[in-house]
Amino acid sequence: MEDFAEVTYNGKTFKLPVTTGTENEKAMDIATLRSASGLITLDSGFKNTGATKSSITFLDGEKGILKYRGYAIEDLAEKSSFMEVSHLLIHGHLPNKTELESFNNNIKKHTLVHEDMRKFFDAYPSKAHPMGVVASLVCSLSTFYPESQNPNRSKEETMLTIYRLMGKMPTISAWAYKNLVGHPRVYPTNKLDYAANFLNMMFDLPSQKYELNAAVVKALDMLLILHADHEQNCSTSTVRIVGSSQANLYSSISAGVVALWGPLHGGANQAVIEMLEKIQKDGGNVEKWIQKAKDKNDPFRLMGFGHRVYKNFDPRAKIIKKACDDVLKELGVQDPLIDIAKSLEEVALSDDYFKERNLYPNVDFYSGIIYKALGIPTEMFTVMFALGRLPGWISQWQEMIGNNEPIGRPRQIYIGDIDKKYVPIEKR
Ligand code: SDX
Repeated sequence: MEDFAEVTYNGKTFKLPVTTGTENEKAMDIATLRSASGLITLDSGFKNTGATKSSITFLDGEKGILKYRGYAIEDLAEKSSFMEVSHLLIHGHLPNKTELESFNNNIKKHTLVHEDMRKFFDAYPSKAHPMGVVASLVCSLSTFYPESQNPNRSKEETMLTIYRLMGKMPTISAWAYKNLVGHPRVYPTNKLDYAANFLNMMFDLPSQKYELNAAVVKALDMLLILHADHEQNCSTSTVRIVGSSQANLYSSISAGVVALWGPLHGGANQAVIEMLEKIQKDGGNVEKWIQKAKDKNDPFRLMGFGHRVYKNFDPRAKIIKKACDDVLKELGVQDPLIDIAKSLEEVALSDDYFKERNLYPNVDFYSGIIYKALGIPTEMFTVMFALGRLPGWISQWQEMIGNNEPIGRPRQIYIGDIDKKYVPIEKR
């Protein structure tokens, strides 16, 4: 049965079809609104606007539900691996053993970056923020592999571009860290799986062989799963809109990396640790900082709290909070920041300001504490987020291309000057 909404304007009523998704979400399709009524819609920040139909990730913000291709994040975090989840997102199904081995091997074949890329790293200042390095080098992959710029490429060529990116992103990210700390770069080794290889490239030193700790590798693999996709968030929407112009995959993902960098988005994990350290330095007076977060005249916000979609607990935050305790215990790390984080959470969740606005801890609130315990420096936290989100960005880009979606080009309502007469400079 046809489902529709009616808009009445200037005495006329317009019927707009209503689309229902598989999880019963409903959307009014406004494709004919302007031609029928002359109206467009206005929705700053797209808080109530759907950009696409997608079969990749489902969020229920009210219930705190997150599913990748229908699988609950709790199951995937506990039972799956980042390579399995990457295959699930990119190919649309959980792989069997043969498919997983082939997926893994295809990625392992491309972990090396072209030796000319070393010149980029040598040119960066040693304190260069790794996000700036990663974003630039991911985009520059399109110059090393110019065939990736061809919009009319075959499926095989697209998959080769994807495998190259999945393989080289950990190497680029780890080398950005080595540049930050001034240590010699470590090459990838195909003997190690994804998370272990990344940690080895990060922390192995000529003077001190890095000893892999199974608990650390597993914790990192789970963190990558938890960050792998999150439907139409700011950086994913950026990847989609850049890709919609038929810009190549590397450039589209590079745009996603820089969008993620913002402290209101993926940069929040770095901002949370800096906030906790500031509170600790200030004597740990949690109540004072909660008041600052509530004060409209104070620019301070409780980083790692609140979410555009979740008006309940971010399911990822719950999983990471528990993993925090496990990892710190396993590694015998005592981090006073986790106590400050827990008391901040406790005070905030009992405060009307946060309750009325449905502000809960999000994925970034506890993740930095684990990264810190794993020995990853603050400046690398958002790179870790990007590494996890990579298969999600790729799958969303693929879906947009596969659906032949039109170039993204929103409209506006103009509120500037009208009919200004040009006056020569002598008379201004
Ligand atoms: C991520 O979209 C995704 O899916 C993102 C992400 C992903 O996986 O891709 O989940 C990853 O980006 C998580 C969010 C990380 N950012 C932060 O932790 C930064 C702190 N949070 C806020 O800046 C904010 O909550 C946002 C940006 C996350 C969401 O902002 P919205 O949806 O635009 O909501 P808003 O800013 O309009 O806030 C609504 C109200 C406002 O108060 P009033 O004007 O109604 O009085 O809540 C207040 C805000 O001032 N508020 C906060 C707050 N977050 C919102 N007040 C204090 N501290 C906060 N953190």
